Amino acid sequence: MSKRDYRHTIDRAKEGMRLPERVTILDTTLRDGEQTPGVSLTSGDKVAIARQLDRLGVDIIEAGFPISSKGEMEAVSRIAKEGLDSQVCGLARVLIKDIDACLDCGVPMVHTFVSTSDIQREYTIKKSREEVLGMAVEAVEHIKEHGAKCLFSAMDATRTDLDYLTEVYEAVEEAGADIINIPDTVGVMIPPAMRLLVEEVRKAIRIPIDVHCHNDFGLAVPNSLAAIEVGGNQVQCTINGLGERAGNADLEEVVMSLTSIYGVKTRIRTEYLYETSKLVERLTGIKMPPNYPIVGENAFSHESGIHTHGVLTKSDTFEPGVMTPEMVGHRRRIVSGKHAGTHGIQSILEGMGYEVNRNQLLEITSRVKDLGDKGKKVTDADLQAIADTILGEVAKREKIVNLEEYAVMTGNKILPTASVKLRFKEKELRGADTGVGPVDAALNAVRSVLREIEDIKLTEYRLEAITGGSDALAEVIVKLEDSKGNSATARATREDIVTASVEAMVSGINRIFLMREKG
Ligand code: KIV
Ligand code: ZN
Repeated sequence: MSKRDYRHTIDRAKEGMRLPERVTILDTTLRDGEQTPGVSLTSGDKVAIARQLDRLGVDIIEAGFPISSKGEMEAVSRIAKEGLDSQVCGLARVLIKDIDACLDCGVPMVHTFVSTSDIQREYTIKKSREEVLGMAVEAVEHIKEHGAKCLFSAMDATRTDLDYLTEVYEAVEEAGADIINIPDTVGVMIPPAMRLLVEEVRKAIRIPIDVHCHNDFGLAVPNSLAAIEVGGNQVQCTINGLGERAGNADLEEVVMSLTSIYGVKTRIRTEYLYETSKLVERLTGIKMPPNYPIVGENAFSHESGIHTHGVLTKSDTFEPGVMTPEMVGHRRRIVSGKHAGTHGIQSILEGMGYEVNRNQLLEITSRVKDLGDKGKKVTDADLQAIADTILGEVAKREKIVNLEEYAVMTGNKILPTASVKLRFKEKELRGADTGVGPVDAALNAVRSVLREIEDIKLTEYRLEAITGGSDALAEVIVKLEDSKGNSATARATREDIVTASVEAMVSGINRIFLMREKG
């Protein structure tokens, strides 16, 4: 059999590269990432993210821009005192007051920068080339005199006259800089040009080369990798690709490409990538699109019949293989929808505890496709409802637990309290409970009424679709688990969140009782 598969082609391409054995990662989520329009983190948020970046194994955390505000100063100082394994660095213009602000925070490394391109020099800082060079050298010397490590950036390097750029880098190396950075500040590079530029700079200096690419044309990751291909040593990136405008090079993509395709090592513990992305998503409020590589919800999800059949037989058939969901702390999902096939639907149903014969499976699959054809996203709760109908269990299910009535009292001076009347088989059950809010009180009341029969835990609660206005529709999705580990997802949509929550809960409880009856 021929050995000329894609790895052979990649190996041939790598022969022409000067790949380092290891690349260091500078994470700038807390600095450039925080410059994402609309993002602003408290110092507590920043400390939480820094701890997670440390756990992830980034080499350097750029913690912030201390001179920019009191809050930044506080956050960078707190992070510097955390005793992390990652080195902590602060950003400073080539101004003594900026550098001193970083040093006052106690960071062991200062990242100092100045615009070198004609356009930025003339229109923003209004300094001549000579003045910029002098300021850069003075800044580097000041940092080194204070015993800190110095990372120097020529801002807008990729649009800077090449002779002048190399002159600046030579001068800062001479002044004691430990590492230089080549920022593609407005994201105008293409990979072959990035390779040429890094090669030119490499001829002029001996210290390590770092790159900082922006994603204006979606090329931040390819340009960063191109720099590594010709001997670049460090990449600046952000979690979830956050950063000014279209963002910076995405850390997850850079690291997984290096690890799984190029075979270049980093210190990143890749199994923490997904949880890190989720933490940053939650604290910044910037939601990831589902089709985002590596950490997006669909990154390892399969719907179409051909793909699910393949993946269920051997996952590498429709996944890269060199990168598995486990490697990045994610999970594989088989989802139902209009492209679904019987193998996929059967696997999801089995996971939910259903046993179906061939005809039932065909009928369920056909109904799922019908729903999909109507433009509907088919959720697990929809699939359960279809399966219950086909298996003739709806009527039976309704007999187990029925919600007869409920009432909730809430106000600014009383603890939210709910009372519930349920019918369990033929028996009437009544009870009441309190909660932090009306939904919590109502769900606690349902659970406490049923506690003598079974202790049902609510393991997930999501309020998903809300249309506009005070009469908006609320869609509640709950996941429940009983003491034997049976779990069920259920959904209800109502104009009133409390009713939707109680109905979803009761429907989930019915599913669990059904599973138990089936043994
Ligand atoms: O994009 C940029 O040039 C920067 C510098 C401060 C490195 O963020
Ligand atoms: Zn930047």
